[in-house]
Amino acid sequence: MTNEQQESLFQQKIDNELRIEPKDWMPEQYRKTLVRQISQHAHSEIVGMLPEGNWITRAPSLRRKAVLLAKVQDEAGHGLYLYSAAETLGISRDQMLDQLHDGTAKYSSIFNYPTLTWADMGAIGWLVDGAAIMNQVPLCRCSYGPYSRAMIRVCKEESFHQRQGYEIMLTLANGTAIQKKMAQDALNRFWWPAIMMFGPNDDASPNSIQSMKWKIKRFSNDDLRQKFIDVTVEQANILGLTIPDKDLKWNEERGHYDFGTINWDEFWNVVKGNGPCNKERLAARKNAWDNGAWVRDAATAHSEKLAAKKAAMTA
Ligand code: 3HC
Repeated sequence: MTNEQQESLFQQKIDNELRIEPKDWMPEQYRKTLVRQISQHAHSEIVGMLPEGNWITRAPSLRRKAVLLAKVQDEAGHGLYLYSAAETLGISRDQMLDQLHDGTAKYSSIFNYPTLTWADMGAIGWLVDGAAIMNQVPLCRCSYGPYSRAMIRVCKEESFHQRQGYEIMLTLANGTAIQKKMAQDALNRFWWPAIMMFGPNDDASPNSIQSMKWKIKRFSNDDLRQKFIDVTVEQANILGLTIPDKDLKWNEERGHYDFGTINWDEFWNVVKGNGPCNKERLAARKNAWDNGAWVRDAATAHSEKLAAKKAAMTA
């Protein structure tokens, strides 16, 4: 079969909603796109543990601490499913981690902002996990089997994360004047970075057209951002908090909220490594990797010992 025939068969499979599995033929660019997206997604989950991990020891009650701890552990799990899904495409976990540590791999811009108060745990759960779900539920129908299956479990857990964040915001918004102010301040700081999470506008998104043709992405960055804004405005109204956008207004004709201009200079600055916490986040990950070297060495020595024992017994 010629390359062209293979490619047309591959596209037919996708158009017929069949999943592509690791051993199936796939265009090299499809493989590369998935490795890029899945590894960036995995790194985001792992780096995403840092801003919240910062508050585990300072959670205001045992219940809040237990819930936050569980949430951060879930993010670690998501990272591991996603690294495993990427490994089915022929890249090793060590290679992906090297790319994270040397700064060549991206991870989500949102995790480069500081978490200054307890209310940030609420705002992150509500807005960041809320935005993540909006983007990730369609990934459960991604054309690549291992990624789509990993996303089913991830999305179930993200939905719990969003609710725990909203519950924190609800408690603070109905609390004392100081607590409500804290919730408003967290919303003010996280709103714009959360809507930037969806990525550049469609006309500035080089990967979208091909990724949508391959059904890796099912919706465009702008469509998902709009959906997120439409549902979140109502949630802010219930909280009695104000979204920090003076141009936010219901547009009857479009059936959507209009919103203000996103600061794309800020977004690209963060993506390029110059956000408020990029250096700190990367240093924390590298440090964790270096400090974990003895665990990896011990595990390798143990498995070599077991393999030698097994070989001696069968000899
Ligand atoms: N942060 C950092 N980089 C971003 C970004 C963001 N928020 N949005 C886009 N970019 C990067 C892209 O990776 C791409 O860079 P590259 O070509 O060098 O890889 C470039 O900007 C252009 O953007 P495109 O729109 O062309 O890129 P994509 O088609 O890949 O779309 C995406 C970007 C929508 C983020 C898509 O990759 C995606 O859906 N990824 C899977 C979901 C994901 O990674 N989410 C991250 C958050 S995970 C999370 O929040 C954890 C949860 O527990 C809270």
